[in-house]
Amino acid sequence: MALTILVVNGPNLNMLGTRETEVYGHTTLDELIAGVAVHAESRGAVLRHVQSNVEGDLVAAIQAAAAGGEGAADGVVLNAGALTHYSIALHDAIAAVDVPVVETHLSNVYAREDFRHTSAIAGVCAGVVTGFGATSYRLAVDALIDLLGD
Ligand code: DQA
Repeated sequence: MALTILVVNGPNLNMLGTRETEVYGHTTLDELIAGVAVHAESRGAVLRHVQSNVEGDLVAAIQAAAAGGEGAADGVVLNAGALTHYSIALHDAIAAVDVPVVETHLSNVYAREDFRHTSAIAGVCAGVVTGFGATSYRLAVDALIDLLGD
């Protein structure tokens, strides 16, 4: 059966296309996800997507990924936006589930402000991809597919 990869995008990523275009580019979130979905499909996986500006929704999506119901997924590509840098709740949600999560960023957070150099979630993620724009998401999908052995 095809692997299901869940992409979870956090606060302000719905603003892609108009938000700080010098950092994040002109691609909208819908365009970004459409491209990543085509890539996942080319690798035989099914892509699902959730975006929310609310921390609890991201926690719920990660819990649901592991729960085996409608929200179930084999792996998660997580761009938690600013929550990356301080959300203990997301750290604990990732630690609580048996589904691999890849911390993913469009920009290179280590080339930006100091407060972006700290990740509250990296230590419980399978790995981190940062700095490659939309390619970060495709790399994260590839990493999960390889990790899951398909
Ligand atoms: C981001 C980087 C974060 O520091 C920032 O708060 C974002 C986007 C990225 O994709 O580069 O919202 O996660």
